[in-house]
Amino acid sequence: MSNRTMAAGNWKMNTTPTEGKALAASIIAGAGTPGTKVIFGVPAIQLMQIKELTANAEGYYVAAQNMHQEDKGAYTGELSAAMLADAGIEYVILGHSERRDYFHEDDTLINAKIRKAIAAGIKPIYCCGEKLDVREAGNQEVKVGKQIEAALFGLSPKEMEQVVIAYEPVWAIGTGVTASPQQAQDMHAYIRTMIENQFGDSIAQNTSILYGGSVKPANADELFAMADVDGGLVGGASLSAENFVPVIKALG
Ligand code: PGA
Repeated sequence: MSNRTMAAGNWKMNTTPTEGKALAASIIAGAGTPGTKVIFGVPAIQLMQIKELTANAEGYYVAAQNMHQEDKGAYTGELSAAMLADAGIEYVILGHSERRDYFHEDDTLINAKIRKAIAAGIKPIYCCGEKLDVREAGNQEVKVGKQIEAALFGLSPKEMEQVVIAYEPVWAIGTGVTASPQQAQDMHAYIRTMIENQFGDSIAQNTSILYGGSVKPANADELFAMADVDGGLVGGASLSAENFVPVIKALG
C-alpha cells in the first residue's frame, strides 16, 4: 500500500494574515481537490483564519508550528493543545530543527508535547534529522535513531498511530541542497524498520514518513517516487502557489 499521503507546507515566520489568506486561497484554487492531504502549517495568528478558509475545501488541513506541553497556566506567549483542538486545528509540527536550535527543545520536551497533542486529538508531525557534521561522519542513522527512540518509543501503539514523521536533514533545510532520493529512501526505510521493531508491521506500514529539506517542483517527482517517501514537509516552496501546487500534484 502506498502511503503517499501528505504535502505539508511549513510557512515558518512568513506571511502577514493578509498575505497568508491570499496564499492559501491561491494554492487551493491551483490544486483543486487534491489527491493527497494538504496541510498548511501557518503562523499562530493565522490559525483560525486559515482553518475557516479550508473548512469547506476537501483535503486541506491546518497545522500549528508549535505548542506548549502543559495544559494551561502562566506561560506567557504560549498556545495549549486544548486551544488548538478547540479551534479545529488538526496537526502540530513538533521537534523542528529550528525549534531545537533556537529554542533549545530536546526530545524529552518534544515527547511531552507529542503526548499532550495526541491526548487533545491533534496529530503531531514529528521532525527529526541530522546535521551536516553527523552526516559527513556517517553517523546519521545513529543520530536519527536516537531522536526517534527518545521521542516516540514511549508511546502506546494507539498513540503512535496518530504520529506523522518528517525526516529533515538539517543540512538540506533552506539551503537549496536536497538529500538525494536514495539518501532519503535509505533513512526513511531505516526509520520504518525502527517503527516496525517497536510497534509492529501494520503501524509501521501505515505511518507516513515525509521528507523535508529543499523540496521543490524540480525534485519532488524523484523524491516522492521512492518507496518509503510518503510525502513532503515543504518550507520555502510552500510560500507560493507557483511552487507548492506542482509539489502537491507530484504526489497525485
Ligand atoms: P525548506 O524547509 O523546504 O525551505 O528547506 C523545510 C522545513 O524546514 O520544513
